[in-house]
Amino acid sequence: MTVSIYIPRDSGSLALGAEKVAKAIEQEIAVRALDVKIVRNGSRGLYWLEPMVEVETPAGRVAYGPVSAKDVSSLFDAGLVSGGQHPLSLGDPERIPFLVRQTRLTFARCGITDPLSLDDYRAHGGLKGLENAVKMAPADIVAQVTESGLRGRGGAGFPTGIKWKTVLDTAGDRKYIVCNADEGDSGTFSDRMIMEGDPFVLIEGMAIAGIATGATKGFVYLRSEYPHAATAMNAAVEIARKAGVLGVNVLGSPHAFDMEIRVGAGAYVCGEETSLLESLEGKRGLVRAKPPLPAHKGLFGKPTVINNVISLASVPIIMDRGAQFYKDFGMGRSRGTIPIQIAGNSKYGGLFEAAFGLTLGEIVDDIGGGTKSGRPVKAVQVGGPLGAYFPRSLFDTPFDYEAFAAKDGLIGHAGIVVFDDTADMLKQARFAMEFCAIESCGKCTPCRLGSTRGVETLDKLARNIEPEKQIELVTDLCNTMKFGSLCALGGFTPYPVMSALNHFPEDFRPSPIAEAAE
Ligand SMILES: Cc1cc2nc3c(=O)[nH]c(=O)nc-3n(C[C@H](O)[C@H](O)[C@H](O)COP(=O)(O)O)c2cc1C
Ligand code: SF4
Repeated sequence: MTVSIYIPRDSGSLALGAEKVAKAIEQEIAVRALDVKIVRNGSRGLYWLEPMVEVETPAGRVAYGPVSAKDVSSLFDAGLVSGGQHPLSLGDPERIPFLVRQTRLTFARCGITDPLSLDDYRAHGGLKGLENAVKMAPADIVAQVTESGLRGRGGAGFPTGIKWKTVLDTAGDRKYIVCNADEGDSGTFSDRMIMEGDPFVLIEGMAIAGIATGATKGFVYLRSEYPHAATAMNAAVEIARKAGVLGVNVLGSPHAFDMEIRVGAGAYVCGEETSLLESLEGKRGLVRAKPPLPAHKGLFGKPTVINNVISLASVPIIMDRGAQFYKDFGMGRSRGTIPIQIAGNSKYGGLFEAAFGLTLGEIVDDIGGGTKSGRPVKAVQVGGPLGAYFPRSLFDTPFDYEAFAAKDGLIGHAGIVVFDDTADMLKQARFAMEFCAIESCGKCTPCRLGSTRGVETLDKLARNIEPEKQIELVTDLCNTMKFGSLCALGGFTPYPVMSALNHFPEDFRPSPIAEAAE
């Protein structure tokens, strides 16, 4: 019987040497004349164990990791093909505590299936949502998505169903579905993981969005730094087209939907929806003033749904299992699951999909295992470069849009970056201002000029020049940016700056040694 060996081919595993491992495994198979099929899967998201190699045995999967090329020969000597014991044995991957504690709805197949096998996708529950959707009236699909409580996972948390309803209700000779795969937030990789590990789920979600709103064409706006995701998505679109999942008759229905992958040129602000549309139209990524909303006048002036990858990839399970099933997970107005990305100085960095409601402390300390450096956790930045820094005293905050907002923070795209006690929060605040200055599209003054003045002010503070005056100035500047900026790049930069200042004031005061030296 042919044995299947799974070796991940997602960017994270490749960065950790998965290609060399695959080559070494191929060689051993040839030398030992074994009947083995290699499947290049996605990652399960346990990055400290990547490259994690799995073998399908009659008793289920057996995992090994982290595997390097030099381990391969000894793995085969230990009986890898039948799940033999080895110092790198991890046993049944499903029983690794980091996975046991998760609720995998959106990521149910990621790391398990062959990302480019539509048969495998179907065998693991794929396409059921779309099969249901093609039989429904568009308004009923929209109602089901609304009822599920799904909110945009790109950052703003806007209800997905309401956005779709606006597009459905807006007349247009053409409508578009645009998937925001710019994933620029620090410490985030869930979009990339799903596109590389289960691309059909995104295609299915976009096709459902098209049928629900009357859009016949979709674009994935993919960041240029994701070449492996581009390869996987392009290949998957081709396969889906050939199989009739995309095309003039989606799954044999009267609905038409097709899509293309477009690669951006590398600008954080092009993740902002209107700037993304400009870029997709071939122009410079300048933010557009709203109104008009993209739902009314979006891509090429037509009604357009813009959703994050995870928002769209979460739709198939909702259309398969029903709104209530999805809604039963979560807390308050944050329904369903959220793929939390644990990054930075974390012992167990990776993707953790769970229902909303875990506290930040549970995520950082229990699940993430504290810092990789072994030093105490000082701060956690949640929600990307525009997210607030939370100190330990806020670790009881539940992962919930409203709970984070109540503490002047945001969940954003659910990336969390952990810092140990060596972090200098004044430097982090300066970094936030500098990031804004570099990435600003330049359309409005508070952001374009404010961020540069912010860097200068924080530099003066670092040099101990009239510190109280600088703190007052930077606070005032943050207020102007927060309330006067056209988009959230300028408008949210005050969050990391002010949270660093408010929660870690000691880092913003001149040290006694510095004062003595003056
Ligand atoms: C500066 C900036 C960068 C953004 N980057 C992204 C991004 O990389 N991916 C994303 O999905 N949303 C990003 N957003 C949010 C989008 O503007 C938009 O809200 C989102 O794509 C809507 O999709 P959703 O409702 O599914 O979240 C960004 C917003 C701003 C202001
Ligand atoms: S806040 Fe910054 S990025 Fe946003 S529109 Fe204004 S200048 Fe452009």
